Amino acid sequence: MTGRGRFITFEGIDGAGKSTQHQWLIEHLRKQGRDVVATREPGGTPLGEKLRAVLLSESMHLETEALLMFAARREHIELVIEPALARGAWVVCDRFVDASMAYQGGGRGLALSRLAELADWTVGDLLPDQTFLFDLPVGIALQRLQSATQSPDRFEREQVDFFERVRASYLDIARKSPHRVCVIDACLSQPEIQVILKELVITN
Ligand code: TYD
Repeated sequence: MTGRGRFITFEGIDGAGKSTQHQWLIEHLRKQGRDVVATREPGGTPLGEKLRAVLLSESMHLETEALLMFAARREHIELVIEPALARGAWVVCDRFVDASMAYQGGGRGLALSRLAELADWTVGDLLPDQTFLFDLPVGIALQRLQSATQSPDRFEREQVDFFERVRASYLDIARKSPHRVCVIDACLSQPEIQVILKELVITN
């Protein structure tokens, strides 16, 4: 019988370069012959991708934003994450609940107790087995975003202080969950980061 799969998430402020490394790790694991489900939040399902388009473009109340993030996540867990883990696949997801804590909590200032209630309700005890947090100074991330993004979305248009709060929240999560969250210095070169990912990813 196949055991339960592994759930890996990638996190970090916009411009940290995590999506490139997310793609790389997926290919690396597939080359090892693993059954890998590559997915992202918000999104990952047909409804979730529609919610993503709204979330990244429409201005809305901060609680509406949090509720839609968790609505998309509920659908994602039900249709994609849980079935994949149950069949023994690896789920490698670009962002998950930590992003809501960091962006809606730290960035927007929504009470963490509110977000914890939503997480308890919609996510339950589903935690990633491993989270890679790509960390770098906000100034460098924003420079990278400016040179890489022609039409920034609603989050990417936020100011330095917003991203400082998001970064601080992420680092706080990492401090509180050192066994789950590996902080990666996103200032390193892509090959250097790939060496670190290879070493850190728990494959047994
Ligand atoms: P992402 O896919 O990382 O952006 P991009 O496609 O530009 O690389 O994430 C989209 C945005 O959604 C990002 O700015 C962070 C935000 N977000 C939240 O605010 N809360 C959440 O719970 C999630 C999953 C994402």
